[in-house]
Amino acid sequence: MIDLPRLRQAFPERHIIYFDSIDSTQRVAAASEPGTIVLADRQLAGQGRHGHTWHSEPGNGIYCSFVLPPSPVLTLALGLATVEAIAQATGIQCDLRWPNDLMLENRKAAGILVQLVNGLAIAGIGINVNQIEFPDDIGHLAISLRQHAGREIAREDILFALFPVIDSLTAEDPETILQLFTHASSYVAGRRVTVDQPGGVITGTTAGLDPAGFLIVRQDDGTDTLILAGGVRASGS
Ligand code: BTN
Repeated sequence: MIDLPRLRQAFPERHIIYFDSIDSTQRVAAASEPGTIVLADRQLAGQGRHGHTWHSEPGNGIYCSFVLPPSPVLTLALGLATVEAIAQATGIQCDLRWPNDLMLENRKAAGILVQLVNGLAIAGIGINVNQIEFPDDIGHLAISLRQHAGREIAREDILFALFPVIDSLTAEDPETILQLFTHASSYVAGRRVTVDQPGGVITGTTAGLDPAGFLIVRQDDGTDTLILAGGVRASGS
């Protein structure tokens, strides 16, 4: 169980809505005021990107949604914030797979879903914290911080770090976010990748971010393709 009283005491000015069990924190956040944070111990219908579900077993993960003003590179800023919060709380340094998958050992440790609803950004963050195993279909793709570090991790410690770091990184200008992201992610430049595109799969080498934060992939014939949505994986993985 998340130690909610401790969290509320540390952030008395925040409106935190908590559920032991809910379908999705995204749904509740979409009907909430700006500034609200929705947290759950378990989700029965956790939503991932591209229509996937997000494995949300009780007790072991962080499932939270923030109601934020939209901004141009918000999705990258939230990935950076989550990396920073995990590093501050645990010392674990995750890689960032564009646009905002947190990676450890080439598997996903956390994911972020940003949805625009009535002019607000509903930003959902899911972090695999203390899972010791995953369902068979995602076992080769997912990893928890505990599996990586070999020790149990207090979810509150990550939440304590996450709230202020989201505030500070969402206040940065887009240029700074692009620079920080380029520095934090091994995927942004010089990485051999395969990308699912609407017209089929392309393979190439990443060649930086454009000013809007989209990923440039240079194919072997020299053609540059701007990747607008995710679907990026390291070639060979
Ligand atoms: C992804 O597919 O990478 C995004 C996963 C986002 C999961 C989080 S968990 C909290 C929030 N509520 C949801 O239903 N989804 C997001």
